This record gives sequence, C-alpha cells and structure tokens, in this order.
Amino acid sequence: MSLSRHVNPEDIISHLQDLNISVSDGASSNLTPYTTAYASQRDIPKCKIPPEGAPADTVYAMLKDELDLDGRPNLNLASFVDTYLEDNAQKLMVDNLAKNLADNDEYPAMISISERCVSILAHLWGVQPGEKAIGSPTVGSSEAIHLGGLAMKRRWQERRRAEGKDTLRPNILMGANAQVALEKFARYFEVEARILPVSAKSNFCLDPDLVRENIDENTIGVFVILGSTYTSHFEPVERVSKILDEFQDSTGVDISIHVDAASGEMYHVKEPLFTYQLLAKNFELPRVKSINASGTRSSSSTTSARLLSKSLEATGWYTCISDIHRAAHDSNSTASQIAEKIKTTAAAATTTTSQTNQETSAAYTPGPPVVSFRFTDKFPRESPHVKQETVSPLLRARQWIIPNYALPPKEDGTEILRVVVRESMGFDLLDRLVTDIVQVTETLMANDEVDLSLLQRQRRKPVERRKEEEQEQEDKGGEAKTAGLEAVGRDVKRMAEGIHRSVC
Ligand SMILES: Cc1ncc(COP(=O)(O)O)c(C=O)c1O
Repeated sequence: MSLSRHVNPEDIISHLQDLNISVSDGASSNLTPYTTAYASQRDIPKCKIPPEGAPADTVYAMLKDELDLDGRPNLNLASFVDTYLEDNAQKLMVDNLAKNLADNDEYPAMISISERCVSILAHLWGVQPGEKAIGSPTVGSSEAIHLGGLAMKRRWQERRRAEGKDTLRPNILMGANAQVALEKFARYFEVEARILPVSAKSNFCLDPDLVRENIDENTIGVFVILGSTYTSHFEPVERVSKILDEFQDSTGVDISIHVDAASGEMYHVKEPLFTYQLLAKNFELPRVKSINASGTRSSSSTTSARLLSKSLEATGWYTCISDIHRAAHDSNSTASQIAEKIKTTAAAATTTTSQTNQETSAAYTPGPPVVSFRFTDKFPRESPHVKQETVSPLLRARQWIIPNYALPPKEDGTEILRVVVRESMGFDLLDRLVTDIVQVTETLMANDEVDLSLLQRQRRKPVERRKEEEQEQEDKGGEAKTAGLEAVGRDVKRMAEGIHRSVC
C-alpha cells in the first residue's frame, strides 16, 4: 500500500499552471466526458430536456457522480430491503427487462412462472388438499396490504347489504406500531383507522385486549403484523383470532384478519421449518383470509443478529428490545410457544444435519433478524450528558446508517436504535460494526455536554409535545375521537411527526 501524504491544493494549482496545459476550444471526446466542450462549456438543464440533446456518456457521468452522494446500501442498516442479489437472478431480470408484465397475451411464459410462484408460496404456507389458493405478485407489500384490506372491505359490504344494513362507517384495527402502508389503506379506501396504543406489556405491538374493546359491527377486519417494524416482534395472530371467534359467537358478526408478514416472513429461508409452519398455522385459522410477504427481504443472517444483540448487551451500556437472541423459554410470546412445539417435532421432519441446525434455531425466540436497542436504564444516570440520538450521526460519520427514533405514540418517551441484519453482515463486518458502536459510545462519554450539544437535534422530546397536546385538548374540553383510544385515536399527526418516515 502506498504511503499517504498531506496534499496542498495551492501547490497543485500552481504546478498545473507551470505545465501550461491549454484546452483547445470545442475539444470533445465521447470517451472522456469531463473534457468535452459540452461538459465544460455548456449547461445541461436539470429539470428540462435540452433542445439539442446531450452526449450520452456526459449525462451518464453526471448522473453517476450525483448518485455517489447516496449512502452505501450495504451499510444502510435501516433498510429492510435486500441489498444483495445473486448474479443469476440479476441476469434473468436484465434479460427480461423489456417485457411488459401486464401483457399476458405476448408473454405467457412469464405469467406461467408468476402463477407457479403463487403455488409455491401456497404450498409453503400449508394449503390443504382441495383448497384453492389465490395470490398475486404486487409492487411491494404495501400494494398487497391494500388488496387484502380492500377484500376485507368488500366482504363486509356484501354481508351488510345482504342483511339490509348500511355500509357507511367501516373501520379497521391495527396497532400504533403499524407500518405506514396499513394506515394508508385506511386513508385511500375511506375506512376509519382505529389505531390501538401499544405498551411494553404488548411488546410494543397490537394488544389483543384492546382489540376486544374496539371491534363492532362496522369492523371490516384486523391487521396483524408478523415482525413489527420497530422491534421485530410477532403479533399474536391466534389470540386475536380467538377474540374474534368469541365476538362472533356473541354477536354473529364475522371479522376477518389480514396478516402483514412483510418484514417477518421471508427471512427464515435458512430456518424454513419454523417460519413456514408458523405461516401455515396462521392460514389454518379460518379468519386469516390473506397474508402479504416481501421477497425482497429474503436473505438475512439470524446468527449475526443474535451475536450483535449479545455483544451490545455485553457492553453494559445497551439493552435490546428485540429478543431474537433470548432463549425461547424466556419469552412469553405465542410465537415462542409455537417454536417450542416445532422444536419437539423437528426430529421427524429433518435429516441429521439439518436437525441439529433446526434445534439451534428453535432454542431462540423466533423473529426476523432485527436488533432494536437502547441505552440501559443506568446509562443516563452514569453519563447524563450523553443523549442516545447522538449515536446515530456519529455512526453516520463512519458510513453506517442506523436510525434512532421514538417508539409509537404512548411509548414515544423511549427511543430506539435499530439495525436490520441482512445476509451481507458477515462476521468481519459485524466485528467492525460492534467496534464502531463501542468507540462512538466511548467518545460520547468522554466528551462534555457543550461539545455534544452540537450533535443534538434542536427539537423537543416527543413525550413533552404529547403532554402539551393532551393539555390543550383537555383545556378545550375535547373528547377522544374513538372511545378508549385517547390521544392515539385523536388527530395526532403521526406522519407529520416523522415517525413513519424513519420507520420503513
Ligand atoms: C411490517 C411492514 N409492513 C409493510 C411494509 C411495506 O412494504 P413495502 O415497502 O414492500 O411496500 C413494510 C416495509 O418495510 C413493513 O416492514
């Protein structure tokens, strides 16, 4: 490796002047776009097509340079979307880029492959002999969620009309941790969103007890999430289903479930038995009418995620809110009970080698490889001048993109840092990440409050803001929009607050 040295720009400029290099007018080369007359002497408008066009490689170079301003996808640990695609998959995609997916007549082979994919998923998710599974490729999980929601609304409308009842006030339930696509469904398709507060007791997820309190004859369905975006917890599909069974027994009202498995389902390609049994189990519940999953989140490294969680907790500064690194029996979640059951039946279904792997996986609380962590309770007492939000920009300076954001409303006094561990997080990269987090934390602890204040966002804490809003509401003598939902069901500007902008 060559030795680096200090570079003085003044020296470089005077050296170039001494060389007396002159560029003749109108010089142009398609091979070196930076030296073309076009690149150096004419403006290319940014927001209009230039009337006389522009050289392709000049435009390419300009766009490429601008795109370099983006973060590095591999170090963007905020994103759930895969940043790695196998060469063969890329090749197939590039080879077929020119085909129009909507043109069934001209491209029957592509349509047939798409149908086979639906069938493959249906089998993985436990379709029973005699059952006919229906599915559709969509542009991401958002569209699939909207289709599932729309189907629930249509079923509800048909039932109501058949009973001679009005269809004016449909509502749908979801936890306040729901990804923005779920809330968008309610807005776009004119359904009242009953956003249920989350709590530590409900793992910051949908609380089945609140589901019971907020359903009525106008409820078209409940969105239940496998793999909450905040902490990766699985919401209890089976418990919600039982509550809806009880409601139907007492009122005759039949309410469906749509399972949002966008971030939680496709991860377990390396631990297939657990995931697909969990999904299949959900589909066995007659109330689960639809599930969405995102293939873009298919590669992951659960082992690295567990190591990261354990390393962070070993520092004594951080505690993890996600719990995929905890032993299955430590958690009281339904998912872990299912994992236990699966563990005991794994032997019959796997070979000796994969059986060993399966047992290792099943020993842990299941979930997507997401590590949500925060300072321990004692950290602020020992280093009161360090704010957790400053960890994120300092890691950004080392190129890691790790967001720090507040938990959903009602719990927004707690902030979390979140890492989505994808397949590219090998042990070397993981080692670097842990080292950087440790060094950044040490730097913060070693600096004083005045220096660190520069790194803090000039904003009030969400919890202070919420208290003020609640006070304002009380002063006005106003009531919550939806009974039992208090501040959360009110006109809280969640998207304006930026919660969902950073949670995706
Ligand atoms: C739980 C959950 N639901 C829905 C979505 C939306 O999925 P997509 O970005 O594929 O539209 C996401 C995205 O991360 C998610 O995590």
